[in-house]
Amino acid sequence: MKNILGISVLNVVSTVPQIIISTTVSSTVTTANTGHNVEDRGDLNFDVFKDDPRNYVLNPKAVGAATKKVSKAVEQAVRDNKLTVTLGGDHSISIGTIHGHARAEPNLCLLWIDAHADINTPLTTPSGNIHGTPLSFLVNQLKDTIPWAALPSFDWLQPCLNITDIAFVGLRDLDPGERYILQKFNITSFSIHEVDRFGIHEVIARSLEAVNPKGDRPIHMSFDIDSVDPAATGATGTPVPGGLTFREGMFIAEHVYRTGLLSALDLVEVNPEVGSRQDKVNTVMTAVEVLTACLGKKREGNLLPGYQLP
Ligand code: ARG
Ligand code: MN
Ligand code: MN
Ligand code: MN
Repeated sequence: MKNILGISVLNVVSTVPQIIISTTVSSTVTTANTGHNVEDRGDLNFDVFKDDPRNYVLNPKAVGAATKKVSKAVEQAVRDNKLTVTLGGDHSISIGTIHGHARAEPNLCLLWIDAHADINTPLTTPSGNIHGTPLSFLVNQLKDTIPWAALPSFDWLQPCLNITDIAFVGLRDLDPGERYILQKFNITSFSIHEVDRFGIHEVIARSLEAVNPKGDRPIHMSFDIDSVDPAATGATGTPVPGGLTFREGMFIAEHVYRTGLLSALDLVEVNPEVGSRQDKVNTVMTAVEVLTACLGKKREGNLLPGYQLP
């Protein structure tokens, strides 16, 4: 198990500028008795582009340039043998995080924890928001459906993931094109219906069994805070009622930590610019608890770092 992690803190991507509480999160992680050394690599700064009117998607120049930077930063952090955490920012950033991670670890598998599947293509997206499309840019099987020539700001990007290497958990708001893709490729996906039916332990165990049956692949977990119910995560751009409970979110985090295979984590869609004051407090608290649990903080308690019982 790697015991060092790098944090890339992002503060603006795509249509929704989002600021994250970097010092709060870093100091919470270091004080969580997990024994990690945290290296905070700071915020990435993105240039502001004047983007054209909608051309399949919104703001392709800004998002293409930003995600390219994210990809480089994550690739470097993974090559430096760090468990790499990226804080967002909207889910567009995962174009960069997964791409960069896959450059360094081509055998990765992906857990996508989200109310949304974020696998619209630029042709199926109803909103034009790239945060609803990141997976379509990354999967080999959708390569021919992307109008690359119309989106030159993504010319740096190579699809790097098989669609069957993805497991979705928490889904409850899918567009028709996304439903079609999930069914056509028979993707492993557990909506909130299946979480209610089977329980969260069974769902996460089956997800890992599907994408990582031998337990020999590095895991990329992309955790959208809106997977958790808006009661705990109101400060997010696209809240959907009826989500994972805080406890189910924590269970996923603890379970994935225990695999010892977590290689990169995205914690996204925390947006302190929306919602009530209480929403902001709850959302940041939920994000910090999920993040630290992914890194080994246990609700049952942790011994002091390095402490061995006789
Ligand atoms: N499916 C909708 C869309 O394509 C919503 C996506 C929400 N995704 C997100 N990362 N907030 O626009
Ligand atoms: Mn968003
Ligand atoms: Mn998402
Ligand atoms: Mn979402």
